[in-house]
Amino acid sequence: MRTRLRRLRTGDTIRDLVRENEVRLTDLIYPVFVAEGKNIRNPVESMPGICQLSIDNLMTEIDLAVSLGIRAFLFFGIPLHKDETGSGAWHRDNVVARAIRAIKDKYPQVVLIADICLCEYTSHGHCGVIHDGCIMNDETLPLLARMSVTMADAGADIVAPSDMMDGRIGYIRDDLDRHGFTDVAVMAYSAKFASAYYSPFRDAAHSAPAFGDRRTYQMDPANGREALRELAEDEAEGADYLMVKPALAYLDVLREARQNFRLPLVTYNVSGEYAMVKAAAAAGFIDEKRIVHENLLAMKRAGADLIITYHAVDYAKWLAQKEKL
Ligand code: PBG
Ligand code: ZN
Repeated sequence: MRTRLRRLRTGDTIRDLVRENEVRLTDLIYPVFVAEGKNIRNPVESMPGICQLSIDNLMTEIDLAVSLGIRAFLFFGIPLHKDETGSGAWHRDNVVARAIRAIKDKYPQVVLIADICLCEYTSHGHCGVIHDGCIMNDETLPLLARMSVTMADAGADIVAPSDMMDGRIGYIRDDLDRHGFTDVAVMAYSAKFASAYYSPFRDAAHSAPAFGDRRTYQMDPANGREALRELAEDEAEGADYLMVKPALAYLDVLREARQNFRLPLVTYNVSGEYAMVKAAAAAGFIDEKRIVHENLLAMKRAGADLIITYHAVDYAKWLAQKEKL
């Protein structure tokens, strides 16, 4: 036998030498939920370790994450008031805008990403404005653009539209430029599927739709080729980053995205994926550290440059403790 692949696996050092992929802390983006009020820390039941935090407590969480080496954060807002159009999304005193101002002031080098969508701010929980029971595409675009400008003005480095309206990337790009925010990047949730894996998030962000579902705007999980059209469209409209979401059930889409596009590629390791790992680990059925490492590695191997993950702080802690993963 001339070929003995086991020669590449004889010990730790050799395995280190031939390892093809690695999950670096700088690949990770940590999502946070910012609530109005003071001294708020509401645990999200389905997502152990994740809380809605008011700005004071959020700052402590950011201090910890930054000290562990996390360098990028994604913000979702939990407003007190909601209305038909989601007008709280673009108010200057929006809770995410205030959080971004405070954090940018303390940590100018840290990358702050504002999720752009109306669903946390609309009374009906849909990602766009509604007329006669329909989610209106073109009427929603200026509202998303206003929210983007509000976040850019607060100091966001990147805006990340997650709504799935057609044409929003170009519309937002133009509006940012018109307001002088030419250096604020757009991270497009391009291939975002209508997934059952988002349900823990909807409890965390209080953003479940009051009627119907999101299938007229988010993608059908059956469609891989169509995902490539979504990605191509966002690239053409000027996106700086492309995303595939969720991650684990869509690694094939991620791989095809890697093969077809040159932009930095992001995947979102979503709330349901996190909840399943946490629940199985709590029951003692799996080894959490090894499972998380293996999952993140799979996303890198499939082609992700960056991973948005609720595991980011845990993962950084394990690395800091030099735990073998
Ligand atoms: C809202 C939004 C969702 C997520 C990110 N932004 C939920 C949804 O589309 O219903 C999901 C994130 C997660 O599940 O972790 N536009
Ligand atoms: Zn939304």
